[in-house]
Amino acid sequence: MNRDSEDHHFLYLSLSLVGSIWFTGIWVIWLLGTWAARSRYRLRPRSPLASASPSAAPGVSILRPLKGLDANLYENLESTFTQEYPNYEIILCVVDEDDQALPVVRDLVSKYPHVRAKISIGEDDVGVNPKVNNLMSGYRSAVNDILWVLDSNVMVDPGTLARAVDALQTPTKSGKRVALVHHVPFAFSAGSRVGSRIDEAFLNTNHAKMYLAINTVAIESCVVGKSNLYRRSDLERVNGSLKPITSSEPNAKQEGLCGLPAFGRFLAEDNMIASALWHELGLRHDLSCDVARNVVGNMSLYDYVQRRIRWIRVRKRMVFTATMLEPLTESIVLVAIGSSSLKYLFGLRVWLYVLVHFFMLLIVDLDVYASLAGHPLPRSIRWEFLAGWVAREALALPIFLFAVFGNAVEWRGRTYEVLNNGEMRQIGRQRSYFNLFRRWDHQPKDYQDLETEPVSP
Ligand SMILES: *[C@@H]1O[C@H](CO)[C@@H](O)[C@H](O)[C@H]1NC(C)=O
Ligand SMILES: *[C@@H]1O[C@H](CO)[C@@H](O)[C@H](O)[C@H]1NC(C)=O
Repeated sequence: MNRDSEDHHFLYLSLSLVGSIWFTGIWVIWLLGTWAARSRYRLRPRSPLASASPSAAPGVSILRPLKGLDANLYENLESTFTQEYPNYEIILCVVDEDDQALPVVRDLVSKYPHVRAKISIGEDDVGVNPKVNNLMSGYRSAVNDILWVLDSNVMVDPGTLARAVDALQTPTKSGKRVALVHHVPFAFSAGSRVGSRIDEAFLNTNHAKMYLAINTVAIESCVVGKSNLYRRSDLERVNGSLKPITSSEPNAKQEGLCGLPAFGRFLAEDNMIASALWHELGLRHDLSCDVARNVVGNMSLYDYVQRRIRWIRVRKRMVFTATMLEPLTESIVLVAIGSSSLKYLFGLRVWLYVLVHFFMLLIVDLDVYASLAGHPLPRSIRWEFLAGWVAREALALPIFLFAVFGNAVEWRGRTYEVLNNGEMRQIGRQRSYFNLFRRWDHQPKDYQDLETEPVSP
């Protein structure tokens, strides 16, 4: 062998070894997520708080930001009226008297007269984030310290609140106090359009698996804001700077504006609240054994692509390195890395690797689905689901490449620019290049569109 080919050999060998370590690492994370889904969600014991006396259970104020008629709105809201918990109030927040959600809300309030519920109408202009502005008056009038903010497109099981309060009150294994309890989204689609199917396949498999793995390792805040439970007294101490509080006094607060109004400047206020509690107060998060049943509206392919673009652009500004590594965790890239490494190291056939990889991935993903759903994938949606799954795997890289070069996001018919650290600025009503996709035109949707998803390390 001459010098040159020895050098090449060394280079390929190193690359193949690094490649093998990388794909093995990703598989370990996937399997960890799958195991976490099994051990956390397959059994959901009833919490003793569910039947405690009102004075024995800490009070909770449930805040539901509403705007317009979401798919399944009645059932989503009703699921908060039927919580098995002795001490809670519900605050239903709309911006104005004409909101289409109001008749639904009034109906429910009269259907459940024994449930403490109030309607809060109005908004407080604390920042560019309309959801925070909408929540403000409810936030101020909440009588309890524990707040549970639940998006309008989320439905929960009756035992969810009691189990979430349990989790909030139980310190982590390392003895840290839990400041926030969140729920992994489990999607089901109301419509049968392409985008809904892809989003459903994504959230219920790959997304859940990564979300659970990251939260099991718990080295960084990773929270999607569909359903978050936290204490107002904690939120009132943080300002979104993510700098640890320096004072050693037990209830020291950050400088400047604190509490919910301080988060109106962010697009992904839920992720930021979770990060702030984690980094500024040094506290931790927990997932209970419930899921946030996320009703995916009738989404077109355009809606789906927009949602992913939004997610990537916001994440890029919040956790740059992790976002840049993201494509390397996508199947197609991973298959390229894995198959070429194994081919070089062991002479393994590429097609064999590709086949085994996708087969195992599908098995793992269906297992995650079954853990979260509480039953295997129903036969009736089997083929649609699989098609959605394949489309999601195939689209991931092109969407990423398109999204990563840009900072504009479209949300509820307006265009915003995402600034450093996740703050945002409105830059207009519409950007022309988005119109390229406008063939599948749609009504701007409500809060469900924000979908910023986990900000992982
Ligand atoms: C979803 O949208 C399609 C096309 O716009 C329509 O045909 C279908 O009935 C809708 N489905 C639901 C459940 O709204
Ligand atoms: C938040 O508090 C920190 C430290 O107390 C301070 O340095 C920072 O400027 C504050 N940020 C805002 C936005 O008020």
